[in-house]
Amino acid sequence: MLEKYLIANWKMQLDQDQAVRQATELKKLLNKEKIDKDLKIVLCPDFLSLASVAEIVKDSKISLGAQDAFYEEKGAFTSQVSIKQIKEIGCEYVIIGHSERRALGESDEMINKKVKAALEQGLTPIICVGETFEERKEGQKDLVIMHQVYEALKNIEAQKDQRIIIAYEPVWVIGTGQAIGSADAFYAASIIEQSLLDSLPGHDEKYCGVIYGGSVSAQNIDDFMGLKNIHGALVGNASLVADGFFAIIKKLNN
Ligand code: PGA
Repeated sequence: MLEKYLIANWKMQLDQDQAVRQATELKKLLNKEKIDKDLKIVLCPDFLSLASVAEIVKDSKISLGAQDAFYEEKGAFTSQVSIKQIKEIGCEYVIIGHSERRALGESDEMINKKVKAALEQGLTPIICVGETFEERKEGQKDLVIMHQVYEALKNIEAQKDQRIIIAYEPVWVIGTGQAIGSADAFYAASIIEQSLLDSLPGHDEKYCGVIYGGSVSAQNIDDFMGLKNIHGALVGNASLVADGFFAIIKKLNN
């Protein structure tokens, strides 16, 4: 069975001092807590804060991830940061294809290249998929998420035991404070799980799985973690304050 994942996506919400403060505070809170070895806690700060947060979380119960990274390893790519570079700084995870990046023009093809590069570097990709409100209204939801999974994993050759995480994030609930219901999440996760397994024949299913994202809070996390095909959460707003995020961690730590 895949481990449980709680991933904080800080987006562009904290300045560097705040990022350092929140990471330090969370580390302190976690020091007092016995954390289940199958619960992975991942912080994804902005690129500029990665190095200082990496120092803080080194040898702690927290792992580091980036919110994106570029697929080429090196070269004349103004403004880009490579997967190799985030790995050097200590990242073990990378969020790929978040809807806020797709909205800025990130294509399925770019996402696929990033997934390949992440796996080649030994990082765990957290691939975001999810429908917009319009797509849902038009009855396209299932097709959209299946398509996004297939495109992201097209011609991927992962080692059998490499972790691959798909975050189901219905775009229309992100940042609204109102998550979807658990029956909805269960249904979407089963479609994604099937697409994931179809895309990766031979991959051991215990190393890949689905997490939920979109207005997750300490109040609603139990609804999702009670589902057998949801292995954790990708958390935006509710991860920005250490004790708020800690409250969610405590719910998963049992
Ligand atoms: P939210 O963000 O928890 O603030 O809805 C989640 C995300 O965008 O990953």
